[in-house]
Amino acid sequence: MRIIKLDAIDSTNAYLKKLSVDGHVEDGLVVLAKFQTHGRGQMGTIWSSQEAKNLTFSVFKDVSFIPVNRHFYISIAVSLAMYEALNSLGLKGVKVKWPNDILSDNKKIAGILIENVIKMNVISGSVIGIGLNVNQTDFKDLPSASSLLLLTGYVQNLDEVLDVILRQLTVYFEYLKNEDYHNLKSKYVAQLFRKNKPSTFKSAEGLLFSGYIVGISEGGQLLIKVEDDVIKSFDFKEVVLMY
Ligand code: BTN
Repeated sequence: MRIIKLDAIDSTNAYLKKLSVDGHVEDGLVVLAKFQTHGRGQMGTIWSSQEAKNLTFSVFKDVSFIPVNRHFYISIAVSLAMYEALNSLGLKGVKVKWPNDILSDNKKIAGILIENVIKMNVISGSVIGIGLNVNQTDFKDLPSASSLLLLTGYVQNLDEVLDVILRQLTVYFEYLKNEDYHNLKSKYVAQLFRKNKPSTFKSAEGLLFSGYIVGISEGGQLLIKVEDDVIKSFDFKEVVLMY
């Protein structure tokens, strides 16, 4: 796997997307930055990360073999790869908060931003952006964030952690290549944060409601059991898990 290491860039996702438009990418190409000046999070948020303390990188993957109606399985595969990698690094209580936040001890330690590269109306590849808090200890404006160091007590070597993650990504992309969707989905649902626990959600209209996360639909929507045992499905922008 080719790895391009940069000292600073606006966003590794933005950089890799530009490279892919120019055709300068191959399956598995990684772009890693010690610092991002405009790190991007989901839904237009900012991903901030102290310089040289954490991993901020993006991987280009050929996803042409995945049917469009199965695209949520990319998110599943990446989440599970992170789940396995963090478990093997000794982290306890790792969970996946739908759709793809990675938590440990109820704290967010990694975020994933997957952006499709569309050429001539077809999805030619995916840019998989991963931000993992590794050796940062100060999260003063982010009370629900944590890092590998805070949770395990050990300073980690960034290259070694990257290697563990890239290996797991390869493993989970094999599941995708083998069309092992059933297995991927059941592994993902088994790790879902707050599954089968009474939880409070906020709808897009700002209304609070109670329910239980019971799984995900084939398209990746979150399935919540609400009152009278009715199961409703929600898209990413339609619901926020409050607690
Ligand atoms: C989120 O949880 O909101 C997703 C965060 C994704 C952050 C990573 S850091 C590397 C890559 N480049 C970016 O600009 N964003 C992703």
